[in-house]
Amino acid sequence: MRKFFTPLLFAAVSVAACSDNDSVPGVITLPEPPIDGQTVFRYDTYGDEVFWTDVLRFNEVVATISPETALAVGLKVDADAVPADVLANADLTDPATTVALLGLDAVVGIKADVAADGTVTRFGITCALCHSDVDDSVAPGIGVRLDGWPAKDLDPGLIISLSPFFDDKPAMRAQLQSWGPGMYDPYWNLDGISDPVVIAPAYGLKDVPLETYTGEGPVSYWNAYVAITQMGGQGTFVEPALNIEIHADPDLVTPKLPALLAYQESLDSPVPPLESYDMEAAERGKVLFDGKAGCSGCHSGDQFTDAGTTLHEAHEIGADPLYATRTITKKYRTTPLRALWQHPPYYHNGEFETLRDVVEHYDLVRNLGLADDEKSDLEEYLKSL
Ligand code: HEC
Ligand code: HEC
Repeated sequence: MRKFFTPLLFAAVSVAACSDNDSVPGVITLPEPPIDGQTVFRYDTYGDEVFWTDVLRFNEVVATISPETALAVGLKVDADAVPADVLANADLTDPATTVALLGLDAVVGIKADVAADGTVTRFGITCALCHSDVDDSVAPGIGVRLDGWPAKDLDPGLIISLSPFFDDKPAMRAQLQSWGPGMYDPYWNLDGISDPVVIAPAYGLKDVPLETYTGEGPVSYWNAYVAITQMGGQGTFVEPALNIEIHADPDLVTPKLPALLAYQESLDSPVPPLESYDMEAAERGKVLFDGKAGCSGCHSGDQFTDAGTTLHEAHEIGADPLYATRTITKKYRTTPLRALWQHPPYYHNGEFETLRDVVEHYDLVRNLGLADDEKSDLEEYLKSL
C-alpha cells in the first residue's frame, strides 16, 4: 500500500501536548469560550501547518506567487478583510501583494503567519478553501464570502503539485495536475488511484441523513476524515475499513466537530435566481419527476434522497463504478438535489456538464421514453430546486 505523502505519517509524529490541564494553585481557570462554528469553518487549520508548511513547504511556494496567478488557480480574496484603498492600489502582479493579503487574512481558506520582514513562516488551509466562493462584487475572484459554496474555480491538484515535495515524484505531480478546477480526490493519498470527484457543496446539509457521494457517514464523520487524513489536521481518526489509525494529542479536530456541524447545517442552499427557469414548465416537470420519469423513487422526501434507507449500485443510474469501489460502502448515495443551478457539473465525477445532459442520460439508461418537451420540462424543474 502506498502511503507516500499522507498526513498519516505526520500525525504519528505530532508533538505531545504540553499539558495545560494541571491545576496550578492560585490560578483561576476560566471556562473555555464556546467554539464558534463559522470561525472554525473559515479560519481553523486544525494544526495542519505541520503538513502544508513542514512537508509541502507552501510557506515558500506562496511567496513566489502573484495574486494574478493565485486568482487564476481559483483562490479567492475576501474583500471584507482588505481596506478598499489597499485593494484599489494593489499590484496584482507582485508576489509581495499575495503575502500582504495573507497577512490580512484575506485569502479565503488559507491561514499564514507573516513575519515583520515579509517572510511567510507558517502556512495552513481551512475548510473554506474548498467549500467557499466569493460574490465577485469587487472584481472576479474578489468579493464577499459565500460559505458552503463549492470552490468551482479552485484547482487543488494543481496547487498541491506546486510543492517542491513533488520535485522527485513526477508521476504523482502529473496526476495532481490532471484533476482540474473544482475537482479533488479525497482517497488518492490512501490508495494512489487518481479518480477525482466534484467538490460538493457544504450547504443544504440539514436533515440529509448521510454525506458524501457514497454515503460514508454523517457530516461529522466526514469532516473528521477530511480534516485529519486530507488537510493534515492534528486529530484522532480511526477507520479500520480503510486501514486508518491516527491519534493526536492534543486533538485539535474532535472538540470542534459539533460547532462545525451546527454551522454547516445553518447554511441554506442558495435559491435559484428569478427568471433562471420557466416556472410553468418546472411545474409540468415536477409531475414527470414524481411520475413517468420515476425520479422521486430515489430522490424522495424534502431532501430529494433515499439515503436514510438505501444506497445504489452504479449500474442503477449508469454511473462510473470506480469511485464507489474505493470507499467503504461501495455504492452511491442518491444525491440530495439542492441548488442544482449553482453547482454544475453533475454526478460525482462531473461527467455531465448540464442538467439537460443528466436528463438525457436517465432517459437512456432507465429507458424512460421521454419526449423532447418532457425532457425540457424536467430540466426546468431541476433548475428550480
Ligand atoms: C481539498 C478540498 C477539500 C477540503 C479542504 C475540504 N473538503 Fe469537503 N469535500 C471535498 C470533496 C471533493 C468532497 C466530495 C467527496 C465525496 O462526496 O466523496 C467533499 C465533501 C464534503 C461534504 C459532503 C457534502 C455532501 O453533500 O455529501 C461536507 C459536509 C464537507 N465536504 C465539509 C467539509 C469540511 C467541514 C471541511 C473542513 C474540515 C472540508 N469539507 C474540507 C473537498 C474538500
Ligand atoms: C435508482 C435511484 C435513482 C433514480 C431512479 C434517479 N436518481 Fe438521480 N441520482 C441517483 C444517484 C445514486 C445519484 C448520484 C450519481 C453520481 O454521483 O454518480 C444521482 C444523481 C443525480 C443528479 C446529480 C446531482 C449532483 O449534484 O451531481 C441529478 C441532477 C439527478 N440525479 C436527477 C435525477 C432525475 C431527474 C431522475 C429521474 C429522471 C433521477 N435522478 C432518478 C439516484 C437515482
